[in-house]
Amino acid sequence: MAKITASVYTSHVPAIGAALDLGKNNEPYWQPVFKGYEYSKQWMKDNQPDVIFLVYNDHATAFSLDMIPTFAIGTAAEFEPADEGWGPRPVPKVIGHPELAAHIAQSVIQQDFDLTIVNKMDVDHGLTVPLSLMCGQPEAWPCPVIPFAVNVVQYPVPSGQRCFNLGKAIRKAIESFDKPLNVQIWGTGGMSHQLQGPRAGLINKEFDNAFLDKLIADPAAAAAIPHIDFVREAGSEGIELVMWLIARGAMADVAGGPAPKLMHRFYHVPASNTAVGHLILENQ
Ligand code: DHB
Ligand code: FE
Repeated sequence: MAKITASVYTSHVPAIGAALDLGKNNEPYWQPVFKGYEYSKQWMKDNQPDVIFLVYNDHATAFSLDMIPTFAIGTAAEFEPADEGWGPRPVPKVIGHPELAAHIAQSVIQQDFDLTIVNKMDVDHGLTVPLSLMCGQPEAWPCPVIPFAVNVVQYPVPSGQRCFNLGKAIRKAIESFDKPLNVQIWGTGGMSHQLQGPRAGLINKEFDNAFLDKLIADPAAAAAIPHIDFVREAGSEGIELVMWLIARGAMADVAGGPAPKLMHRFYHVPASNTAVGHLILENQ
């Protein structure tokens, strides 16, 4: 059967992608950001998954106000990097895993979560920047990726509790797939940031680090944070953190298994307008 080996959590700042694509990663501003992912790139090489289930948000790129799925699973064979206004990032196309994605859709919908099935979509920085941070600049991404898009842009957005419960259903779905695949689940976006209005530029290190502590050791407490607290404490775009709860809800301890092992923790401010946070948790 397939199994979830680890979960990865990381911010997705678009300027990080631009810094890499334009060769600016050694500039003093960016060096400390990329240094925090050196361990992670080696860890990826040493713990190569068969598939990554990548929870991210689309930023009005593939979806617009015309259509706003709360939870959308990418079931296509491939996904092109999106043009976000400056041309698509020069990164490899994303190869999907239609068979596992269709199985997850079947299982999760039958567990009463109404996913939107997406057979064609482009993927923006929300998905490609985490891949770049974890994998560097390869000719091809190291494995197939199932994109799982969450609406955290247009209200109403799903609660952290709903996301955490969805993670539990995704775990059951993956672990009932009848092939011996090692699957990683990634939760991306966050940490504190606000891009608009009078509080633009807001960063809250205390909230971010308390969230990391809770996510590691007491994920049920992290899941109980109401969405208004994310917005008040972590800024309007800090709500992206609910996506981390999907990945955390899919870990073994939430289903009664052993606690995961913390392999890596990193936090850095600033990166563009965002606090960058990053964790790697391995199932034991
Ligand atoms: C920034 C952060 C984001 O999460 C995003 O989607 C766009 C921009 C930023 O910090 O500039
Ligand atoms: Fe974002």
